[in-house]
Amino acid sequence: MADRSPAPDTPELRERWGSFEFSPAYKAKADTAIARYPEGRQRSAVMPLLDLAQRQVGEETNTQGWLPLPVIEYVARYLEMPVIRVLEVATFYFMYNLQPVGRFHVQVCGTTPCMLRGSDGLLETCKKRGMVKGHVSEDGLWTLTEVECLGNCATAPMVQINDDNYEDLTPERLDHVLDELAAGRQPKTGTQEPGRHTSEPVGGPTTLREMVTENHDYRGEW
Ligand code: FES
Repeated sequence: MADRSPAPDTPELRERWGSFEFSPAYKAKADTAIARYPEGRQRSAVMPLLDLAQRQVGEETNTQGWLPLPVIEYVARYLEMPVIRVLEVATFYFMYNLQPVGRFHVQVCGTTPCMLRGSDGLLETCKKRGMVKGHVSEDGLWTLTEVECLGNCATAPMVQINDDNYEDLTPERLDHVLDELAAGRQPKTGTQEPGRHTSEPVGGPTTLREMVTENHDYRGEW
């Protein structure tokens, strides 16, 4: 479990992020999120607003983005909420980074199904590239985090990198994904198993086979 403490509140942090505010594009998205809720319930938009703030910080720092304390305070002001309430949300959910991260945030699932299918080897692959859990690599490219189940157990082992999942990984397949990202290319997302489409049985479907190509109506066969 990674450290969930906010980055220290220093004069340098205030200097860099104290004047943070949404860009016009992000402000429009934030206001759209707030408008989804009834009048007086704008606080319900705290999660999307934190996500938008993190993404804007990411664009400004060429990283996956994180939430410096002054940015969390800005979101609190924007929603007219006590800062502690926003901080509670930001520190609870793993999707918010409380410390600076690299260009790519490599989140390796280490829960039982992924562990049984080889997540230790994936962590080794990351470490061979200089990744250390909870730290930004020297080249600024990577931050490694070990996470709990991300809901892709049927295609274990898997890794989430920024907004994408990479599944059915082996150390070699993960190496290829990381090479592609480092080179500025977008690798194939989802399962990396040749011939597998999503999470259907390896080797092809064993039930409801007619549904593979069209929306087959089985009712007459019951
Ligand atoms: S255990 Fe890794 S995705 Fe569920």
